[in-house]
Amino acid sequence: MRQPVIQLHNLHKRFGAVQAVRHLNLEVFSGECFGFLGPNGAGKTTTISMILGLLRPTAGRVVVLGEEVTPDHTAALRHVGALAGAPGFYPYLSGRANLRLLAALYPDVDDVRVEEVLALVGLQEAANRKAKAYSTGMKQRLGLAAALLHRPKLLILDEPTSGLDPVGMAEMRALLRKLTEEGITVFLSSHLLHEVEQTCDRVAILNRGQLVAQGPVADLLAGKHDLEEVFMAAVHAPNPTAA
Ligand SMILES: Nc1ncnc2c1ncn2[C@@H]1O[C@H](COP(=O)(O)OP(=O)(O)O)[C@@H](O)[C@H]1O
Ligand SMILES: [Mg+2]
Repeated sequence: MRQPVIQLHNLHKRFGAVQAVRHLNLEVFSGECFGFLGPNGAGKTTTISMILGLLRPTAGRVVVLGEEVTPDHTAALRHVGALAGAPGFYPYLSGRANLRLLAALYPDVDDVRVEEVLALVGLQEAANRKAKAYSTGMKQRLGLAAALLHRPKLLILDEPTSGLDPVGMAEMRALLRKLTEEGITVFLSSHLLHEVEQTCDRVAILNRGQLVAQGPVADLLAGKHDLEEVFMAAVHAPNPTAA
């Protein structure tokens, strides 16, 4: 039996007149790479903020690893790593020194683990360089290393390749596949269909806060040229509940 890692039950978020996320039901299972797709403004970041207990849903529930998450109850998140937006580091400290500072926050993360995550994201050689000298791709990889320090079971990434060049994107994709192979569940939001098509097992497509398609990449692609075609068909389908 596959274990649900993220369960969203009828999740809804309203900002004034804006229905950012509408009655979203979603399950992500252990060991999969799940792609959360949608154009800008679809509600991806809002959903992720609710999963991470940073934002209170207007209605509905978030369950992570079997435990309810709310802004007042984030215990389940001790097993979760997240990379959302550009990661912040001390610019004048090296990548390694930044990770060692973060490691000190966790009782069971030592310098050996710091070296492990540096190796995992391919930053060993650059580990002694100041973080401010890192390229965008290296900063993202350092952010990923930081998110992995405490050996999370679930990794949540909000548009991890935005701002990366094609080489940086390919590196990030390879890294995410490696993490999935190691048994970490990956929840990846992106507006880049091509990227998700290559990286994920299952996807959900969000448009204007609503789920418009969901399923294994292979099933959604059946009879279609690529995920782009699936996406355009889903996004432009008549929407009976739209205001
Ligand atoms: N704090 C906020 N206050 C008001 N509106 C917001 C806020 N955050 C997001 N929104 C709106 O909610 C919708 C979804 O935004 P977002 O979740 O950031 O989309 P995505 O991450 O898919 O680009 C957008 O219309 C956005 O303008
Ligand atoms: Mg976003």
